[in-house]
Amino acid sequence: MDSNKWKGKFCIEVSPIPNILVIFGASGDLAHRKLIPALFSLFTKNLLHQKSKVIGCARSQMSDSEFKNKVEESLLKYIPNLDKSKLVEFLDKLNYISGQYNEAKTYNALLSKIEELEAKINTETGRIFYLSTPPTIYFTIVKQLGLSKLTDENEEGVPWRNVVLEKPFGRDLKTAKELDSQLRSVLNERQIYRIDHYLGKETVQNILMLRFANIMFEPIWNNKYIDNVQIMVGESVGIGNRAGYYDSYGHLRDMFQNHILQMLALVAMEPPTSFESNHIRNEKVKVLEAIKPFPINELDKHIVRGQYEKGEVDGEKVDGYLDENNIPEDSMTESFVAGKFLIDNWRWKGVPFYMRSGKRMKERLTEIKITFKKVPYSIFNPIQAEDLSPNILTLNVQPDEGLALSIQAKQPGPKLCMGDLTMDFKYNEIFGGDKPEAYERLLLDTMLADQTLFIRSDFIDLSWGLFTPVLEAWEKGNHPLYKYKAGSWGPKEACKLLVQDGFCWCDCN
Ligand SMILES: NC(=O)c1ccc[n+]([C@@H]2O[C@H](COP(=O)([O-])OP(=O)(O)OC[C@H]3O[C@@H](n4cnc5c(N)ncnc54)[C@H](OP(=O)(O)O)[C@@H]3O)[C@@H](O)[C@H]2O)c1
Repeated sequence: MDSNKWKGKFCIEVSPIPNILVIFGASGDLAHRKLIPALFSLFTKNLLHQKSKVIGCARSQMSDSEFKNKVEESLLKYIPNLDKSKLVEFLDKLNYISGQYNEAKTYNALLSKIEELEAKINTETGRIFYLSTPPTIYFTIVKQLGLSKLTDENEEGVPWRNVVLEKPFGRDLKTAKELDSQLRSVLNERQIYRIDHYLGKETVQNILMLRFANIMFEPIWNNKYIDNVQIMVGESVGIGNRAGYYDSYGHLRDMFQNHILQMLALVAMEPPTSFESNHIRNEKVKVLEAIKPFPINELDKHIVRGQYEKGEVDGEKVDGYLDENNIPEDSMTESFVAGKFLIDNWRWKGVPFYMRSGKRMKERLTEIKITFKKVPYSIFNPIQAEDLSPNILTLNVQPDEGLALSIQAKQPGPKLCMGDLTMDFKYNEIFGGDKPEAYERLLLDTMLADQTLFIRSDFIDLSWGLFTPVLEAWEKGNHPLYKYKAGSWGPKEACKLLVQDGFCWCDCN
């Protein structure tokens, strides 16, 4: 840690009570690549209570020791420089139950195991049920959890019985509402933890600190001083082995309904009353309520979709979307979306928020750029106000997490010599490369029953309410699907979206 640049003053981390964490789909990719490594990391930081236990549950037949072996392999594979001295103690926490997700006997076996473990723990114990399975079986599992009374809790919700759900949460407004009403027939909203792993990223969490722990941003964080906001989530990868899911889902659902709207809400929200879960989530919901619906009769001026063709990424030739395995040759699924969002409220009226995200883009890059207005008048004759670049605040979410502010500054020497100067801070340079994974924060919060970084059902409804008319219009087939070359920043029509307003993407090609 660079102590010249960082003087840590307040550092509050709460350790959870003992919890029993049940992972459904424990044989799967997410469990082995992200969840169990994150639990191991919490364990090594003493943030997993000594008495906490983990139960893997899935259809695959495995004994406890086979499951432990599989977990050990995954930890060695996914955690660089793993502290092997902690491995035995961690593996000792693991148990495994195999069974069908729709059969009562699976849940009876689970209940007996949980009761056996709780009796040994012998103190108040939380229960977390993490659904790391395809969403099609979420309700099958939750229904059985309810029938077997595994999720019953007292009125105060202590000790808690929480259920964690992975995205996607529905595929439009109707299906999201159906799923929600099914879940709510068994669980209270306070028991439902809908994951958006972007909210677990350090840089995304830092948006609140930046905005509300510094006096200098808030007075200029509005339409008087901000010209436009751009949010970009570029992925250089293609669809990998997720063709089935991706082709039936598309990029608008995969990225915009969740990650991008979450980032937009954090940038645009009013100051919450406190750093308390519902205070923050209330303000985020108000932002969504104020977003102007996309005008369907002139949709293409507001939202553009694209699909990649073959090209070159990182010096390697790559296939086009339609040539990927298991993609129908006439697929109209979008792998890129750019959109202009308008927020109708006092703070943001007239400030466009441009969002852009795609697969097979030039590089992997997630960033938020806040471009301020130019100075109204230049005293530096003959340099005119319009010659001076605007200040731009860039929040780098990945891969080089940090933030940068560009300002106008004088070059030493000549009397009048100005240019753009970037002041930047990179997490890696100050804190080293060892940042916690998003899933660590999120798993820890489920064990603390803190819902701040999880999505409330009204946010889900509003987000689908915004995008469902767009998806329906696209499905009718009257809107263009523009092609773009793999390894570019998307179709040129996405640039026109801004050019028509007198702006451009900060990197338009
Ligand atoms: N992997 C990621 O990086 C990632 C990222 C974001 C979100 N997610 C979400 O996280 C969840 C888990 O992802 P994953 O990649 O781990 O999924 P996965 O490997 O496809 O499935 C997890 C486990 O669920 C069981 N399963 C698979 N298909 C099933 C079916 N049709 N019916 C019943 N059980 C089935 C399998 O276990 P058994 O056969 O042993 O029961 C499988 O090991 C999904 O909702 C996914 O959308 C994943």
